[in-house]
Amino acid sequence: MPVKALITGITGQDGSYLADFLLAKGYEVHGVVRRASTFNTGRIEHLYQDVHENKPGLRLHYGDLADGSALRHVLERVQPDEIYNLAAQSHVRISFDQSEYTADIVATGTLRLLEAFRDYVDKSGKAAKFYQAGSSEMFGAAAPPQDENTSFHPRSPYACAKVAAHWYARNMRESYGLFVANGILFNHESERRGETFVTRKITRAVGRIKEGLQEKLYLGNLDAKRDWGFAGDYVEAMWLMLQQDAADDYVVATGESHSVREFIEVAFGHADLDWQKYVEIDPRYFRPSEVDYLLGNAGKAREKLGWTPTVGFEELVLRMYQHDWGLAIREKFLADSGFRER
Ligand code: NAP
Ligand code: GDD
Repeated sequence: MPVKALITGITGQDGSYLADFLLAKGYEVHGVVRRASTFNTGRIEHLYQDVHENKPGLRLHYGDLADGSALRHVLERVQPDEIYNLAAQSHVRISFDQSEYTADIVATGTLRLLEAFRDYVDKSGKAAKFYQAGSSEMFGAAAPPQDENTSFHPRSPYACAKVAAHWYARNMRESYGLFVANGILFNHESERRGETFVTRKITRAVGRIKEGLQEKLYLGNLDAKRDWGFAGDYVEAMWLMLQQDAADDYVVATGESHSVREFIEVAFGHADLDWQKYVEIDPRYFRPSEVDYLLGNAGKAREKLGWTPTVGFEELVLRMYQHDWGLAIREKFLADSGFRER
């Protein structure tokens, strides 16, 4: 029998890479998707097989972290061995505008799923395992480098909610002895990154500026520093956490930090463009409180999980730029041929 995994947030950047990774390992993968008026499954389209075909490796179930009974039904129906809770309102800036909603999904939503998990383990008798997607944002204003012993100092409603989720998960482990692991992941990016996060916003813009489709790129704080890794590497760390004998908490990071300005310089450099001619500062993108400097120490993950990142900063920027330049070339070709993408 294949191992069964359930992924919330499967339609997001990490969910799609994790689904790729687990399917390649022979898992039966189940994902929770939200109902939307337009398709939200673009990132997993390449994995989708019609349910009418024989034994598809990937199966999708409607659900929402706001809806505890639906989550319980999915757990009962799927009977998973591993649960990866990746669903979130994951945009830090937007969490200042939608703070209650962010708390409901990120903090209380995690609690809903953990409570359903507790009952599921109790009833099924399965030694199922749970991964909680924690974030370096929880460190916030704490001085770098940050590791598992660094105190949290969250600086946004999103980060406060992730701290609550982290402690709900830890409390579930300490109270009931359940296998619940917390990943504390630093920023990780890819060509599947949402287009309003700063890295993708930059690489999309560079490609479009190069093809004459866009004149300016409006950004906020260029001085913030982040420890940026590749999402494909980070989903392996999630999986490794659930292959251990005992549950624990782990920082996952590259150990290298760069400013937003450095990211811009490298990305525009690939296109042979002078970034200063195109980048404008728009204060709308400033945050009420900022996280200035994230730099992770992933020594514990390296020693205990045997995990190391394979993609460095320069390679990450290059692969994102090349992908987005390709998209811009296609967009230009369609526009020149009289077609407009919807
Ligand atoms: P993402 O691309 O924004 O994906 C978020 C996923 O959550 C999407 O599938 C989204 O569905 C789903 N979702 C949102 N609200 C939901 C709800 N109410 N109920 C059910 N599903 C919901 O995020 P990501 O970059 O893949 O990150 C995955 C997780 O890791 C998140 O929890 C994030 O906070 C955390 N994290 C990310 C990073 C990073 O650098 N990427 C670092 C540390 C931690 P739709 O597709 O329908 O919107
Ligand atoms: N999004 C965005 N847009 N950020 C900008 C912009 C802009 O136009 N201009 C400057 N920035 C700065 C932000 O102020 C922040 O300091 C930095 O770029 C990174 O912003 P994001 O890419 O939005 O990511 P984040 O670090 O706030 O949050 C991401 O990483 C966290 C892990 O540390 C998200 O993926 C979170 O979900 C994740 O937990």
